[in-house]
Amino acid sequence: MVNAKVFTPIQLGPITLRNRTIRAAAFEGMCTNWNVTNDLINYHRQVSDGGIGMTTVAYASVSKDGLAFPHQLWIRDEIKSDLKKLADAIHAGGAKASIQIGHTGNMSKKSVTGFRPISASAKFNLYGPTWPRKMNLQDIKRVIHDFKKAVFLLKECGFDAVEIHAGHGYLISQFLSPYTNRRKDEYGGSFENRSRFLREVLHAVREAAGNQMALLVKMNMWDGFEGGITREEAYKTAQIIEAHGAEAIVLSGGFVSKAPMYIMRGKMPTRIMAKNISNMVVKFLVGVLGKVFIKPYPFQEGYLLCS
Ligand SMILES: Cc1cc2nc3c(=O)[nH]c(=O)nc-3n(C[C@H](O)[C@H](O)[C@H](O)COP(=O)(O)O)c2cc1C
Repeated sequence: MVNAKVFTPIQLGPITLRNRTIRAAAFEGMCTNWNVTNDLINYHRQVSDGGIGMTTVAYASVSKDGLAFPHQLWIRDEIKSDLKKLADAIHAGGAKASIQIGHTGNMSKKSVTGFRPISASAKFNLYGPTWPRKMNLQDIKRVIHDFKKAVFLLKECGFDAVEIHAGHGYLISQFLSPYTNRRKDEYGGSFENRSRFLREVLHAVREAAGNQMALLVKMNMWDGFEGGITREEAYKTAQIIEAHGAEAIVLSGGFVSKAPMYIMRGKMPTRIMAKNISNMVVKFLVGVLGKVFIKPYPFQEGYLLCS
């Protein structure tokens, strides 16, 4: 018999989902000019019509310099009416609307943003490939402000929840992980310092979300390799998230610039990736050497439970 509990309503702080199913953030790749399209609206409307409790619009950037792809969403005032249309369409199907926001840091692309990528430290990222600029204190303040502004805007547009992307080796995760954070100031070194950026982002977004929106945070239980965060640091990260009043934690793992297949599973599709790369040097590196550098992880049911 089907376990009926999954189909019963659940309270997530200020919002009530009609059942306990949530469509996880998985990049749709459906935006044009970093804006909402009819395809994106129709996609999430259909998920909502299908009966989900809440659907999550994926991989939106809070800043222009946080974009990695041309068909990604960038949260900004100019697209307010389109964001509202997206939230309204989701509500019309009966589901709650959540949106995942973040900044890709060393995975952002100058060819997309016009800016040199930024990160916790200026460490070469082979998987970009990018050579990011180390963020100064003004950059840190500005990105935190971008997170806060994005949440205010999403609240005005009618979104019920926001999910902060603090995992997968993107910017917040780049601060948390000793693999990418080599800073010597108050944002680097000890776990207390490496988690400062996360704490400041959470403080800002909780303030912006107020008691009208639910706050979810996606985090790594493990970066997927030795030299990243430890299990103990993951427990502490979860405690920080809880202490900042998040309604839910989305548990994940993996690091796009070091262990991308830890979350995706299977073999890296290097041949298809190389086909779509125009730079001949990068094309060669990915196509021929990609499999050497990028470790495959076999798929297993419930793989994050067993690892
Ligand atoms: C094609 C694809 C795209 C994804 N895009 C995102 C994303 O944009 N943001 C994110 O946090 N996770 C992303 N993920 C990871 C999923 O949200 C999820 O954590 C992962 O697939 C494991 O959960 P599952 O067992 O429910 O699939 C993506 C996964 C896939 C397969």
